[in-house]
Amino acid sequence: MKNKIIVIGTKNRDKLRELKRLLRGMKLRVKSLADFPECEDVEETGKTFVANAKLKARFYSKHTKSLAFADDSGLMVNAINGRPGVYSARFAGAGCTYLDNNRKLLKMLVKTPEAKRGAKFVCVIAIYDNGKLIGTVRGECVGKIATEIRGANGFGYDPVFIPKGFNKTYAEISAKQKNTVSHRGRALRAAQKFLQSYLN
Ligand code: IMP
Repeated sequence: MKNKIIVIGTKNRDKLRELKRLLRGMKLRVKSLADFPECEDVEETGKTFVANAKLKARFYSKHTKSLAFADDSGLMVNAINGRPGVYSARFAGAGCTYLDNNRKLLKMLVKTPEAKRGAKFVCVIAIYDNGKLIGTVRGECVGKIATEIRGANGFGYDPVFIPKGFNKTYAEISAKQKNTVSHRGRALRAAQKFLQSYLN
């Protein structure tokens, strides 16, 4: 039987790189939205990670008439009531850069002591087939916010997030190490299990 096509529903190149890497070795033909240039953007109007992941995956699965998944992810910082959460990408305003977001976060936490700098990354992946929901999975990674920007790997909030058990930020460890502990790595391993039983 020919391998089934799966479309990764994200226009974020950094996420796409991580997700493609994590899907290696599965019996699937992986496609991205670059293979469907006519496909429009989906507005992330949901108030939760689950709602946004579903919105995106459903749209891309319907459009491509195939298996599709999308993730919605973000950082939740305890000292600021779980913000930026679903607004992680645009925390410092429309059109902001990763650096703007990190600077804003560090500034907000400038008086927050080490013991109160707890945070977690969350990733929800929704999987749809031909427009129908087949499942959602979630991965989390707890840790804390550093006091300064450290490291050059990765993307987004990687230079300010120290995963539990490490004294380095996500941006100071390799992509391989990040995948073993990260929210996205965990969610994707759950999605792989899910897909394996779905495809059998
Ligand atoms: P989304 O496209 O709405 O899911 O936005 C996710 C945003 O959360 C990204 O733009 C990043 O700012 C942040 N984010 C998600 N995953 C990661 C990660 O693995 N490292 C660093 N930042 C991340």
